[in-house]
Amino acid sequence: MPHPVLIAAELKNLLEPAQLEGLDVTWLAAEQPTPAGDHVAIVPLLSRWVGGTELKHLPKLRIVANCAAGYDNVDLVAAEMRGVVVTNTPDVLTDATADLTWALILACARRLVEGIDLVRSGRWPGWHPEQLLGLELRGRVLGLLGAGRIGQAVGRRATGFGMTILYASRQPKADFERDTGAVRVELGRLLRESDVLSLHAPATPETKGIIDDRALLQMKPGAILVNTARGDLVREEALAIALEEGRLGAAGLDVYAEEPKIHPRLVAAPRTVLLPHIGSATWETRRKMAAIAVGNVQAVLAGRPPLTPVYR
Ligand code: GLV
Repeated sequence: MPHPVLIAAELKNLLEPAQLEGLDVTWLAAEQPTPAGDHVAIVPLLSRWVGGTELKHLPKLRIVANCAAGYDNVDLVAAEMRGVVVTNTPDVLTDATADLTWALILACARRLVEGIDLVRSGRWPGWHPEQLLGLELRGRVLGLLGAGRIGQAVGRRATGFGMTILYASRQPKADFERDTGAVRVELGRLLRESDVLSLHAPATPETKGIIDDRALLQMKPGAILVNTARGDLVREEALAIALEEGRLGAAGLDVYAEEPKIHPRLVAAPRTVLLPHIGSATWETRRKMAAIAVGNVQAVLAGRPPLTPVYR
């Protein structure tokens, strides 16, 4: 008997029929609430909240295989209480997300959006020695808030740009320090000394709003803030004010607290590069994410350990 499972419909084109063998798939559309039923597995996108109520309505559920590295959309406590395994899709998106982080760092440092707007406006007067001068990265400090896989991959790329690396994380990362010369510091020093501050921490109760008005006031005047992690880390209105007041040099964001809504003041703020959550958006990565998510389902349903479990 094939196993009844729920899979986000957006993943359909990324999966091969062989990966779905033995599964009786109900494709779950984005706008569709999570249905009640006898499904044994669900593969949600990060935009679907899977909490106590959803889990209660799926009494046969054995696994929530989140198709994302982050899993703040899943209630881990409720899952654990019901004995439901939770998995994510780490590793495969590290390079794509680190690359996109660098796209944002460079776009902010070299004022790409202002340049594109100037060309498109038809009002570019031609080359001028003081036109759109930006931040030279060599010799500057890259601060990483969070140094997991993606934070470290961003840091490793920074050595090619001649940057010095500071990082704040719960655990020291010896290999990373040895390879890049990165120095682990407290949050206060990270904020004060970073020319570019890039966020790579998960969204948890401890990190929610960590970049608030107080943190922004501690940042170096003219510094660049980049966030490819989770929108919850940043107080968007406080960030908009820091940009409006000219305290912050620029902000490059790929994630927002209430996606797809973005705080209107942030949309209107100067010197921003705002992307629509495309950190892992390459064909290779998205196929691998879908494959790992479904691979986790297949493993658990076959009685094997999940490939990439997450724990509280
Ligand atoms: C994307 O944001 C992810 O967590 O995979």
